[in-house]
Amino acid sequence: MNSKISKFAAVLVLLLSLICSSATATAKSKSSGGKAQKLKVGYYAQTCPYAEIIVRQAVEKAVSKNPGIAAGLIRMHFHDCFVRGCDASVLLDGPNTEKQSIPNQGSLRGFEVIDAAKAELELQCPGIVSCADIIAFAARDSSCKLGNINYDVPSGRRDGNVSLINEPLLNLPAPFFNATTLRDNFARKGLSLDEMVTLSGAHSIGISHCSSFASRLYPTQDPTLDPNYAAFLKTICPPPVANATAAPTVNPTVNLDSITPTRLDNKYYVGLKVNRGLLTSDQVLLSSPLTAKTVVYNARYGRVWAKKFAAAMVRMGNIEVLTGNQGQIRKNCRVVN
Ligand code: HEM
Ligand SMILES: *[C@@H]1O[C@H](CO)[C@@H](O)[C@H](O)[C@H]1NC(C)=O
Ligand SMILES: *[C@@H]1O[C@H](CO)[C@@H](O)[C@H](O)[C@H]1NC(C)=O
Ligand SMILES: *[C@@H]1O[C@H](CO)[C@@H](O)[C@H](O)[C@H]1NC(C)=O
Repeated sequence: MNSKISKFAAVLVLLLSLICSSATATAKSKSSGGKAQKLKVGYYAQTCPYAEIIVRQAVEKAVSKNPGIAAGLIRMHFHDCFVRGCDASVLLDGPNTEKQSIPNQGSLRGFEVIDAAKAELELQCPGIVSCADIIAFAARDSSCKLGNINYDVPSGRRDGNVSLINEPLLNLPAPFFNATTLRDNFARKGLSLDEMVTLSGAHSIGISHCSSFASRLYPTQDPTLDPNYAAFLKTICPPPVANATAAPTVNPTVNLDSITPTRLDNKYYVGLKVNRGLLTSDQVLLSSPLTAKTVVYNARYGRVWAKKFAAAMVRMGNIEVLTGNQGQIRKNCRVVN
């Protein structure tokens, strides 16, 4: 590594520590238990010391241009981890891959940020840093940028080489799920009810396409939706067309959090309390006795929620990871070696 780069990196570290200085929201890594080798904070300290800085730099650059990318990267980590574990299977290109599935196709975003980070990492330390770890770091950096929620990311994940189009629908929760099915879905990945409610707070940023909640507006309006909010949503989302082949379907987007749409904060829960949850899976967290108390608590105690969010992100990042000599370190995140 030449001195120009290390000087630059040192300045960057200083800068970043100033920007995302909320050490209070740092989560201690907890193991999710199990057989595989454990992930470790600072895994690349010897082999690629600037790994996390390089990723952060790529995220900073992209998110400054478009804050929505931060939402995309946090969601990408979720969609990666819930399908075959956090193995970057979500990044593989090609027909019949996870990317082509209904939950991902046309809505998952931020892939070029992962590519940019990977390209730089391959220049600095070829074949060392996994794409799965890049996603995990990028999700953390996004949380830091939009929510000042910073935490250590245990790393050492390896990349899988299988990605199947049918698996996202089988493993990811759908926006029409109720509290029971949401709980069961997260439980299958080893996450608790509290973690499910807490991670849903990611919907404090980003957008949803009308198609994900149109059934709450048409043909009959969901009574748990605030009428004024529903009226607003109807001005954006057109009623479904009778003949879909006649007119190309338009599918606009709406902010998931109508109070602070570009801040990763607990206002999402405040929105639920006034019936402005956008997805059914959001609003049911308040209407179900299983989760209502946690919603009220998270709405009230923003700092506690932020800490819980950081810890839950680390736990999510541990789901079914490949370590040791399992999988591979991809050279290009879009294709297996
Ligand atoms: C609890 C069950 C969940 C369901 C049913 C769900 C469903 C959805 C849906 C339908 C969208 C909108 C997609 C679209 O129409 O464009 C969305 C967006 C999003 N989700 Fe979730 N989600 C859940 C949990 C999570 C979790 C655990 C995270 C991350 C920790 C997350 C992060 C996001 C983010 C950040 C967006 C906005 C993405 C963007 O703006 O590009 N979601 N989610
Ligand atoms: C939740 O959804 C499942 C599956 O559709 C259904 O069997 C169950 O009765 C629902 N639970 C509640 C409390 O509505
Ligand atoms: C839908 O519209 C297309 C193009 O206008 C037409 O060919 C087709 O017959 C229509 N289908 C129905 C079910 O009305
Ligand atoms: C997938 O990865 C394993 C472990 O690195 C390797 O043995 C196997 O040949 C790979 N399969 C494909 C199709 O690339």
